[in-house]
Amino acid sequence: MTQTPQNTKKLFIKTYGCQMNVYDSDRMADALAPHGYQPVSDIATADLVLLNTCHIREKASEKVFSELGRLKELQAERRAGGQDLLIGVAGCVAQAEGEEIARRAPVVDMVFGPQAYHRLPDMVAKAAGSRHLHPALRTPVIDTDFPEEDKFDYLPAPQKEVVIKRGLTAFLTVQEGCDKFCSFCVVPYTRGAEVSRPVQQVLAEARGLVAGGVREITLLGQNVNAYHGLDEAGNPVGLGQLAYLLAEIEGLARLRYTTSHPRDMDDGLIAAHRDLDILMPYLHLPVQSGSDTILKAMNRRHTRDDYMRVIDKIRSARSDMALSGDFIVGFPGETDKDFEDTLRIIADVGYASAYSFKYSTRPGTPGANLDGQIEEAVKNERLYRLQALVDAQTTAFHTSCVGKTLPVLIEREGRMAGQVGGRSPYLQAVHFEGSTDLIGQILPLEIIGTSTNSLVGKLTQAGLNNSDISHDTTRKSVSVDESRVA
Ligand code: SAH
Ligand code: SF4
Ligand code: F3S
Repeated sequence: MTQTPQNTKKLFIKTYGCQMNVYDSDRMADALAPHGYQPVSDIATADLVLLNTCHIREKASEKVFSELGRLKELQAERRAGGQDLLIGVAGCVAQAEGEEIARRAPVVDMVFGPQAYHRLPDMVAKAAGSRHLHPALRTPVIDTDFPEEDKFDYLPAPQKEVVIKRGLTAFLTVQEGCDKFCSFCVVPYTRGAEVSRPVQQVLAEARGLVAGGVREITLLGQNVNAYHGLDEAGNPVGLGQLAYLLAEIEGLARLRYTTSHPRDMDDGLIAAHRDLDILMPYLHLPVQSGSDTILKAMNRRHTRDDYMRVIDKIRSARSDMALSGDFIVGFPGETDKDFEDTLRIIADVGYASAYSFKYSTRPGTPGANLDGQIEEAVKNERLYRLQALVDAQTTAFHTSCVGKTLPVLIEREGRMAGQVGGRSPYLQAVHFEGSTDLIGQILPLEIIGTSTNSLVGKLTQAGLNNSDISHDTTRKSVSVDESRVA
């Protein structure tokens, strides 16, 4: 449907939390585009503001309420000027605390969970339709059911111009929800049961992205490697097999996926890492703790040794695999010895990067009822020590790349004039002196130095000849040996 400028409305989406929320925000914008909503970057000009929220830790979820406080003022200003502002809360806080949000923040017009995004245009119409009523008579639209139907069957694909505008890399959700129930985690409650999208649907979306200029796709799922979407014959296909199918799409140069669970790192997926150049040698594989006692209490359903075995297998299949992880410090009952075990597993694995968090008690999770909650000061000290170790590993990893030639997907202008930047296979930011004409290509860069959290590169002769190397040299030109990673 084409819109005349008069009925174009402005949409601002603020995204918190994980990559899946980033993807979902785009899908919400896509769902509203046929109804005249165009994204804007200035919240002050918006007709509709959506907060796409995260519930994973207490701090993340409290951010919503402070943002709603600010929006209340903006809404009052707009109304004083004879205009309006609709406000919706989406995402995982909405799913977990729908009624509570409506009660605490009457400023909100809509509250809806991640599985209801296909119903967004109807919700907006309904909320807008009650604007003429006195505020006391309005009730917010709340939709936090887990619907029977699958939202992906209804969500529209973005227009090609929109895909082009969003850039060279894209997220694609292939799996959603979680059946693992780690005892600290809200995701099984906020996202619901594990669901995999059908293979053909995923391939069609990937082809659409590539047709819009996307060169790198990151497949998303709360448990992405538990993917088991059905093919046309109705047979389940694993993530490894899906990677082989995606590798056939002409023009797609790079494939990544996140987040994986150690238990689902099956041989098919590991074989795909061995066979496919397109699959980048960087894997986010959280272990959370290095102590078997804590892993058990976390209901991770794997031991430290299980995890180490998986790492060995992956590295045998792909020796230059760089690893990243997530760690929680201060889980209830965590002793000094347990924490030392976590430091030890970090030292043993050697991560290229890692995310670490202080345990945050989440209402409704089994962890909230455990004895032995850890004092804040102890959590702080453990987090500090853990992060120092991980930072040293990250620095060592970056330094190990100096002198090597890495293929870099050139994505954007650099911060300094005359510079452009992109990502290495290991997801490191790399910047170098070069022309913006190079954006969109994958070129070999000699790494000549490091700066905070990024690498400095220089175009090699092959790069100067402008020869895109997307489909061949990842493995041949790169050899980051494991000892340097540690
Ligand atoms: N599905 C992914 C991670 C989802 S949440 C997985 O299974 O690994 C992202 C990270 O947040 C987790 O890996 C964990 O490290 C952290 N996290 C989750 N719940 C938490 C809590 N209650 N307190 C602190 N960190 C938490
Ligand atoms: Fe949360 Fe565990 Fe599921 Fe990951 S596997 S989303 S940490 S319950
Ligand atoms: Fe947060 Fe929900 Fe993602 S809780 S981490 S936004 S799945």
